[in-house]
Amino acid sequence: MKSLYAFVVAVVAVVSPLVLASSTARRARATHAAPVRTYADCQRKTWRPLQGCPPGTLFVSQNSSRVSFTTIQSAIDSLPHDNSSQVILVAPGTYTEQLNVTRPRPLTLLGMSDAPSQGKAYADVTSDTDHRNEVQVVWAAGNTDNTGKLVDNAITSVLTVAPTWNASLTGTGPTGFAVPADTPFGSADFRAYNIDFRNTYALEAAGPALALTVGYANAGFYACGFYSYQDTVYVGKLGNAFFYDSVVAGQVDFLYGFGTAWVERSTLALRNCGGGITAWKGTNTTFTNKYGVYVASSRVIAANDTIAAEIAGQCALGRPWNAQHRSIFLNTYLDASIKPEGYIEWGDTDPRYGNTTFMAVYDDNGPGYDVEAMKAGNVTIVLDSEVVEPYRSPAGVFITPEGATGNVLWIDGEALASKGI
Ligand SMILES: *[C@@H]1O[C@H](CO)[C@@H](O)[C@H](O)[C@H]1NC(C)=O
Ligand SMILES: *[C@@H]1O[C@H](CO)[C@@H](O)[C@H](O)[C@H]1NC(C)=O
Ligand SMILES: *[C@@H]1O[C@H](CO)[C@@H](O)[C@H](O)[C@H]1NC(C)=O
Ligand SMILES: *[C@@H]1O[C@H](CO)[C@@H](O)[C@H](O)[C@H]1NC(C)=O
Ligand SMILES: *[C@@H]1O[C@H](CO)[C@@H](O)[C@H](O)[C@H]1NC(C)=O
Ligand SMILES: *[C@@H]1O[C@H](CO)[C@@H](O)[C@H](O)[C@H]1NC(C)=O
Ligand SMILES: *[C@@H]1O[C@H](CO)[C@@H](O)[C@H](O)[C@H]1NC(C)=O
Ligand SMILES: *[C@@H]1O[C@H](CO)[C@@H](O)[C@H](O)[C@H]1NC(C)=O
Repeated sequence: MKSLYAFVVAVVAVVSPLVLASSTARRARATHAAPVRTYADCQRKTWRPLQGCPPGTLFVSQNSSRVSFTTIQSAIDSLPHDNSSQVILVAPGTYTEQLNVTRPRPLTLLGMSDAPSQGKAYADVTSDTDHRNEVQVVWAAGNTDNTGKLVDNAITSVLTVAPTWNASLTGTGPTGFAVPADTPFGSADFRAYNIDFRNTYALEAAGPALALTVGYANAGFYACGFYSYQDTVYVGKLGNAFFYDSVVAGQVDFLYGFGTAWVERSTLALRNCGGGITAWKGTNTTFTNKYGVYVASSRVIAANDTIAAEIAGQCALGRPWNAQHRSIFLNTYLDASIKPEGYIEWGDTDPRYGNTTFMAVYDDNGPGYDVEAMKAGNVTIVLDSEVVEPYRSPAGVFITPEGATGNVLWIDGEALASKGI
């Protein structure tokens, strides 16, 4: 999004991995996150790296003389344009590259790690984890075009899962970029496990700097990390994105988009405040849509104790990028960083708030969950069990491009079976 500087709280930043301090961990209620072990045998670090992997798995490594691929994108580009499902295993290392997945058929990227086989969760702050995967994909790019017209946020993303350039664009105005009607759907089933995607453009919100773009595609992330400050995750039109046991870190509007995102048993790490955590644009469709962002059985916490002291009571749950914003925090722990009234209007002179705005909470907990203050603020909707019902599960919210619910076959069955809420 553009012109956000006014909402940005300045921060003196120092390079540092995200470390969740022990006192923060003690405050958080455990949600018993367990890692998804679907590919644990393949991901395990052994002398024969492809042992335990599906037949035909490609291997990427920066320092093995026996591999064909030293960059992840070169392995992606080598895949056949057919209907086969493909798996790429990536050895530990820091890969400085932008990734672009246009392939329509299934693709799985596995970060090598012993964590899944050892039962170690990534996002569970109560467990022994340093929130750093051994595979890092890093890129530094921001969009400083405040007109939003000359340069699109799409150029900044570390990972893009979209069939075409047009399908990855944010665009401007209440309806965003008008993706041409004949645009094909992209990946039916993209998955990534144990990989961090970091946009290191700036150490504070300084213009959109995306770690992830998903447009016209289905994408699931398991034990992955997404790190930036502004607009970290973009789920564009017809984008379906599922996050499990993952970390999304940011400061301003760091979950934004048009599509549908479900975040479960994950950690949203506040690196500062500004704008809101969620900023969504709704779309009018001929069918009932569930476009929006749903944060379930997760934690919203300050990235560390130093920043926690600075942002106490200041971070908004979200704000309406257009008046049809839809987001719900369900059964989620909210730490003391959260503004008592919860969500906010877009801006003082441009509220973008109306009776189609659905910025809601349901049965959350923690010091940041002040139901009375949320009701009194008149912006946050405190849901009851009846109204929340259509939004209580991934199957309820992920729809096909035509609007049919239950579009979840692309989600790892082990994560889906955990029944987060
Ligand atoms: C805490 O997090 C902020 C935001 O990412 C960062 O700038 C700061 O360096 C971190 N401080 C410590 C002590 O890790
Ligand atoms: C891929 O599958 C579709 C149906 O799902 C089929 O129409 C198409 O011919 C297949 N393409 C190839 C290259 O096998
Ligand atoms: C390859 O590089 C990674 C990351 O730098 C390192 O963890 C690993 O030990 C290296 N492997 C070999 C065989 O040198
Ligand atoms: C991804 O690759 C496609 C095909 O080469 C290209 O048209 C598109 O612009 C790329 N997307 C990004 C975000 O670079
Ligand atoms: C991308 O969108 C623009 C504007 O709608 C259109 O002119 C162009 O043909 C589209 N490109 C593709 C490859 O569809
Ligand atoms: C959706 O339709 C309503 C009613 O016509 C209109 O007020 C609103 O601006 C539309 N929103 C978008 C994003 O097109
Ligand atoms: C929503 O607000 C519009 C004007 O902003 C009004 O015309 C409409 O009746 C309202 N709808 C409901 C259900 O309150
Ligand atoms: C919320 O609405 C009530 C009833 O209309 C009103 O009395 C109150 O002042 C409003 N609160 C805020 C913060 O606008």
